[in-house]
Amino acid sequence: MSKNDSRIKDFAAQNQSIQSYVESTFQTEDPVLREVRNRSIQNGLPDIQIASTDARHLEILVRLSGAKKIVEIGTLGGYSGICLLRGGGPESFLHTFELEKKNAAVAQESFDQHGFTSQVKIHQGPANENLQSIESEGPFDLVFIDANKKGYPEYARWAAEHLKKGGVLIGDNTFAFGKINADTFESPLEEEITLHLREFNEYVASSGLFRGTILPTGEGLTVGIKL
Ligand code: DHB
Ligand code: MG
Repeated sequence: MSKNDSRIKDFAAQNQSIQSYVESTFQTEDPVLREVRNRSIQNGLPDIQIASTDARHLEILVRLSGAKKIVEIGTLGGYSGICLLRGGGPESFLHTFELEKKNAAVAQESFDQHGFTSQVKIHQGPANENLQSIESEGPFDLVFIDANKKGYPEYARWAAEHLKKGGVLIGDNTFAFGKINADTFESPLEEEITLHLREFNEYVASSGLFRGTILPTGEGLTVGIKL
């Protein structure tokens, strides 16, 4: 799993052969992303950054939207942040929020090593306490959520308030590791996570504040456009 990405989480209609085809044809994990993933693992971070195919999806969504003022909640080692900045280009700026000190340090190294130092600010600490510190810089063009699942509904409400009209909200893991439409759960924690992700999806789907969908990637990538 860590040498070459090639992970398949078969929650949606995909298969390993097609996953590998996309990765090799589009070279979704280049040496920069591979370096970030390997160094993250070496530093003991959990190997849960987005798949390289979703990394490319992120970059493409940012390019499509023309987003420049970007917010990320859940930095981890900086893997997805680099994709957001690649999509945004040299004029873009990323505010990224990370609870864990160790993750933030690895991410800072990732941004520094790969030429993004001047385009990113890592806010270390609880996102729900720190988001207000950037509100005066809003409205923002794009918000990507990939953090503690309990926080998703609150982060989505923050995004609705601080995205520009036409701005983009993206959430990772919105198939809830395959359980999003399940009736039974393996553990109370799994059920709790799923209920939070359902609340998030329903907010994007039916609050009237977004037009949205879930892109059926391995993990499920909810995308909403602020109305
Ligand atoms: C896992 C994957 C994620 O993308 C995430 O945000 C959290 C956890 C996982 O595979 O456990
Ligand atoms: Mg995730």
